[in-house]
Amino acid sequence: MSSSPQTDFFYDAYNRDDIAYGLEPSAALAAYLSQVDVAPSGGLRAIDLGAGAGRDSLALASAGYHVESVDLSERGLARIAERAAQRNLADRVRTRLEDVRKIDFPRDYYDAVIATTVLDHVPASDAETVWQRMCDSLSSTGFLYVQVHTTEDPGSGLPPGNTSTSPVSETAGAVINYFRPNQLAAMAIDVKSKLRILRYEERLEWDYTHGPEHQHGKAVLLAVRSGYHPPWYGQPAAFPRAEPTK
Ligand SMILES: C[S@@+](CC[C@H](N)C(=O)[O-])C[C@H]1O[C@@H](n2cnc3c(N)ncnc32)[C@H](O)[C@@H]1O
Repeated sequence: MSSSPQTDFFYDAYNRDDIAYGLEPSAALAAYLSQVDVAPSGGLRAIDLGAGAGRDSLALASAGYHVESVDLSERGLARIAERAAQRNLADRVRTRLEDVRKIDFPRDYYDAVIATTVLDHVPASDAETVWQRMCDSLSSTGFLYVQVHTTEDPGSGLPPGNTSTSPVSETAGAVINYFRPNQLAAMAIDVKSKLRILRYEERLEWDYTHGPEHQHGKAVLLAVRSGYHPPWYGQPAAFPRAEPTK
């Protein structure tokens, strides 16, 4: 079955010349990749769940990861393959037209697990199941990056988003599971998750990457496997080592 606007909610968003969500990777993910040098070890594995048109997948591939990009949008995956080829990264990116709720997550396998606004696109009970599988699939030196829409989003049917007068995203109809305050943080500190939080934030943001300008409420989590201590100085890096004076 080929992708069409009838079968793919995100078809139009990914079919434009000016592809939705742009090419800038998620900021905390980019900060992590810029500080924790993965190149020397090589052969690292990443999975990008709900990869869209690939802004995070491409950043991971550029940093040296072999990336599996999973999405239900065939058009989005085609744009990922096209963008990867343009950057000579085709051998580092494998697209998978699959539902994140139905894929296998090998245990202790991925060095990076990314879910940028997909756990909020599935029912809450499915999100909990996928979350636990994501955590279990992380290697001992892996990192996890998750972003979700929260009830602060003007598209949310719950307060305070439902009282907001800010403009709503053109793709808000795909978000069915707005996270409550602290909900993602609580999942991250649950002992079953086996994570150590590097960064957690709940924020409002304005989005100019697709459709008319609109506002979002988001929760953002960057974490590593508990017991792992990579050289992370924060976002922005607060007190990195000074460059030697010449
Ligand atoms: C808001 S977009 C985010 C895309 C990308 N992560 C980014 O930040 O640019 C959400 C994506 O999740 C995908 N998606 C939604 N539910 C999914 C599911 N159950 N399995 C796989 N992908 C899904 C959609 O097709 C869409 O591409």
